[in-house]
Amino acid sequence: MRKQVDVSDRLAGKLNALSDGLDRYERFGLHLLMSVSIGGVAPHGAAPRRRRRAEAWKTGLKVLAHINPSGLPYVGRPSFVDKRLLSGLLCEAREKESVAHRTGPQEISPGGRHAIALSRSQELRELVSRALGVAVRSTGITTYLYYNRTGDHLFPHVDTEIFSINCIVMLEHVIPRRARSRSALVTYGLDGRGRRVPLRPGEIAVLQASGTAHARESVRESERVTLLTIGFNRLRSR
Ligand SMILES: [Fe+2]
Repeated sequence: MRKQVDVSDRLAGKLNALSDGLDRYERFGLHLLMSVSIGGVAPHGAAPRRRRRAEAWKTGLKVLAHINPSGLPYVGRPSFVDKRLLSGLLCEAREKESVAHRTGPQEISPGGRHAIALSRSQELRELVSRALGVAVRSTGITTYLYYNRTGDHLFPHVDTEIFSINCIVMLEHVIPRRARSRSALVTYGLDGRGRRVPLRPGEIAVLQASGTAHARESVRESERVTLLTIGFNRLRSR
């Protein structure tokens, strides 16, 4: 039997070799282009099934994971996320929602003092550092995200600027009664498949977000998701 050639492996290998020969600014440009491209190939987050599109999709995921570290090393609720911390963050998220702006099928607002305090806390830094096995520093960049209209979502992408590690903190998930499904974070592996990561309020996902494609599934009618994201970087890059 003739061996099936995986086009995405071949093409990714060539693009990875190209990437290795680029300077950091050129590599940044390639990374940004690949990030935008995967969102174009799978705009609603479902991995493409048609062969050629699936090959392009997997190529993008492989190149992005070559340029930057990838993976989801931690999902859980650490003990320092107690009721008080969570309600402080949620109150602040509600206050900030009045000045949030729509950047696409979602709204965002910058974090306030509660979010910044968490981003600078030793507990969170140690959690991220332990999960990755490397020293990290907080960027102090915090953002509240609101998926508050029917159909709101985030298309597949990687985070490209300012930080490479994203701590995603679930603050509130309003799920309508009798809902058959609920919106989840999705991360994509190199085989092109999505992995759903449903987070409960208080749970945190530590994502190597500049090398791992990720998305947010659409919220249904009356469903709402409120998240906080906090950016970290490695002390030394790769
Ligand atoms: Fe992201």
